[in-house]
Amino acid sequence: MSLRHAPATLRNRDPILAVLRRVLPRDGTVLEIGSGSGEHAAYFAAALAPLRWRPTDASDRDFASITGWAREHGASTVEPPRVLDAISDTWPTGRADAMFSANVIHIAPWAVTEGMLRGAARVLPSGAPLVLYGPFMREGTHTAASNAAFDADLRRRDPSWGIRDLGTVADVAATHGLDLDDITEMPANNLTVVFRRR
Ligand SMILES: C[S@@+](CC[C@H](N)C(=O)[O-])C[C@H]1O[C@@H](n2cnc3c(N)ncnc32)[C@H](O)[C@@H]1O
Repeated sequence: MSLRHAPATLRNRDPILAVLRRVLPRDGTVLEIGSGSGEHAAYFAAALAPLRWRPTDASDRDFASITGWAREHGASTVEPPRVLDAISDTWPTGRADAMFSANVIHIAPWAVTEGMLRGAARVLPSGAPLVLYGPFMREGTHTAASNAAFDADLRRRDPSWGIRDLGTVADVAATHGLDLDDITEMPANNLTVVFRRR
């Protein structure tokens, strides 16, 4: 089986899950953007059933890993993965009751953040959460030396990548009718942040 494993997932999945239990609806569908290996999708879906999990990614290269992890966790509420480019203005996924995305907006051009926020405004009903996990700057400053080094490394790899400032993301989110509602500190200087559709 072609299961891909990201070591950080074992460290961050339970702290993220604790936030998801608090902010997600009890049922309905969570649309995930940039599911990658699918480890989060399977773990969260198994813990949060009957909530359905809709994994997507811009590329289908790891779709076998997504379905493999879902099988491994016995997570029958994980839907078959679909190709979704967050930048696109036509997402092939319909409405959702919540959105989740981990470790995507800093490892992608800024246009992906903008596309994700525009898309959240299109697919979420009023009051629904958009949950983002990853490193953020606060008021233009890195929260740890390790994040500053990570940011420099990302920008070396691709100048369009980089750790985003939470205030800047929140300002753009507000223009799309999404208000920053909750910030939870996570291990290794990451955050889980929750926006709510107005
Ligand atoms: C660092 S991985 C994170 C994977 C997973 N969410 C995790 O936390 O382990 C970033 C993911 O974002 C996806 N991605 C990059 N650009 C994207 C876009 N425009 N739309 C949707 N996904 C994108 C990549 O294909 C990759 O799977």
